[in-house]
Amino acid sequence: MTWNLENKTALVTGGTKGIGKAIVVEFLNLGANVIAVARGQESLDALKNELKSDKLTLLSADLSTKEGIKTVIDSLTTLDILVNNVGTNIRKRMVDFEDQDFDTIVNTNLFSVYELTRKCHSLLKASQGNVVSIASVTGITHVKSGVIYGMTKAAIIQFTRNIAVEWAADGIRLNAVSPWYIQTPLTAGVLANPDFYAEVVARTPMRRVGLPEEVAAAVAFFAMNNASFITGQNLAVDGGFTIKL
Ligand SMILES: NC(=O)c1ccc[n+]([C@@H]2O[C@H](COP(=O)([O-])OP(=O)(O)OC[C@H]3O[C@@H](n4cnc5c(N)ncnc54)[C@H](OP(=O)(O)O)[C@@H]3O)[C@@H](O)[C@H]2O)c1
Repeated sequence: MTWNLENKTALVTGGTKGIGKAIVVEFLNLGANVIAVARGQESLDALKNELKSDKLTLLSADLSTKEGIKTVIDSLTTLDILVNNVGTNIRKRMVDFEDQDFDTIVNTNLFSVYELTRKCHSLLKASQGNVVSIASVTGITHVKSGVIYGMTKAAIIQFTRNIAVEWAADGIRLNAVSPWYIQTPLTAGVLANPDFYAEVVARTPMRRVGLPEEVAAAVAFFAMNNASFITGQNLAVDGGFTIKL
């Protein structure tokens, strides 16, 4: 077995910022051809300029919609690894959520995973490939990030278990990675609040927040052939948060 992703083609959703960008960089370093998807053309162009890799392909699409997912699927001719990383959040108390908030969070975090993964089935079966989805510790226990976000992340963990069983016969593995607080654009706002940051660090045995690269390393492991007998799992990348609740 080799500790690399040479000759593999990987699709990384939300690949321009935060955790997704770190996954793109990690995969390129491991030798993969990477297709990075996001909505913003500016951030896609910035990624292209920064990484200057001829193994990187960029695609603009909104993965919370069927049309956006079709754009991505239509562009693919081969696929070994699907990384479902796209996610967003709107932080409110249950009674304050608007209908539109529910649609935005569920469509971005959950519909994208469900629809894109199933549309990739034939390509993944042909390559004997695998799927890694970014869930969250909010899908395992209570975190003050809002009920809708937590619901979608719990659903991704269960989706991973169910489809890992259903698609095992097709030679396709599915795993999930569940981060606790990671320093990214998504969490920059809340982590900039000193009281919030102190509360997060106090709940973390390692007494710090995580780095996007630390999530990318776990994703890369699941994606490699080295993880060939591992499917349906959910790995917390959390500085010990979930073992000391
Ligand atoms: N950061 C954390 O502490 C943390 C903890 C646990 C789990 N997670 C999960 O990790 C994943 C990545 O989080 P992050 O913190 O890296 O987020 P981020 O910094 O906000 O980056 C999100 C990425 O997804 C893209 N994106 C967002 N909505 C999209 C859509 N509808 N269609 C296509 N692309 C879209 C964004 O680009 P555009 O805006 O240009 O589309 C960007 O590239 C998410 O699933 C998140 O829930 C994060």
